[in-house]
Amino acid sequence: MGYSYILPTDRHRIPTSTGKTIELTTLIKPMKVLIATEKPFAKVAVDGIREVVEGAGYELALLEKYTDKAQLLEAVADADALIIRSDIVDAAVLDAAKQLKIVVRAGAGYDNIDLEAATAHKVVAMNTPGQNSNAVAELALGLMVYAVRNLYNGTSGTELKGKKLGIHAFGNVGRNVARIAQGFGMDVYAYDAYCPDEAMTAANVKPVHSAEELYKTCDIVSLHIPATAETKNSINHDLVNLMPKGGVLVNTARKEVIDEEGLIALLQERTDLKYMTDIMPVADAKFRTLFEGRYFATPKKMGAQTAEANINAGIAAAKQIVDFIKNGNTRFQVNK
Ligand code: 3PG
Repeated sequence: MGYSYILPTDRHRIPTSTGKTIELTTLIKPMKVLIATEKPFAKVAVDGIREVVEGAGYELALLEKYTDKAQLLEAVADADALIIRSDIVDAAVLDAAKQLKIVVRAGAGYDNIDLEAATAHKVVAMNTPGQNSNAVAELALGLMVYAVRNLYNGTSGTELKGKKLGIHAFGNVGRNVARIAQGFGMDVYAYDAYCPDEAMTAANVKPVHSAEELYKTCDIVSLHIPATAETKNSINHDLVNLMPKGGVLVNTARKEVIDEEGLIALLQERTDLKYMTDIMPVADAKFRTLFEGRYFATPKKMGAQTAEANINAGIAAAKQIVDFIKNGNTRFQVNK
């Protein structure tokens, strides 16, 4: 095992036989940053990450479109830093990554990282909040248009203008959804237990004070809640049933927040409702068969799949790694 982790304060100059001195850091193997993305970044984003990583004097390794966890376990073995997307970093990956100091989820949600295991392995875990939120928000609006135009099936649909939109969680994505929806002329409401009313009213968004009130009020609800112990299965039959006739539920958040069996039962009872999702449900085949024309799921999560979002999140991840290694900056650490 080589010395691959050197803080600036550890730098020393050592004498050589010729009498000259050389810096110790030139004798050691460079830090290795691994990008492990089952769903790859755009090439332009990888190029940008490379520039940052190599500019810092580190080495970049790439594992893309891997199909087997064994490939990931092998690739992380000598990585000092790891950049991932929705890739699972669990105890097995952390066990295999003997040199790992930092893992950065290039994106917002970090439910794919076992934070306790990361802490136990003395690995810093970070995300890059806000970097891909416009891309996800644009897709949410795209799914809304697709829904109200009857999945482009040639029949007469409705418009978003004048409709009530409910934003469930007013974080980075929710705020971008509000901004774009206002451009469509929508009447925007939001519910977020952790966000003060003032932040919503400042964005011309009407705050409501319970999820029930949001679903009761709004023609379209757009989900932006993270998958946590509190939110898992929370979008259930009774909650969605509060939506007015013709309601549309749009999910660009996580599949885990949906109580799938409850939603299936509701869509059977209420043939007026539609479900549009960027995260394919476990029961996708059942949804597809039962709800043709009022259900749509992207084949792979597409919200953050734009060159811009990849560049923003990927380069932010690379810069955070360099700043952590060189300066100890832990600003975006999520496993404190
Ligand atoms: C996120 O949490 O940032 C989004 O869900 C995007 O995830 P992805 O990087 O897997 O596309």
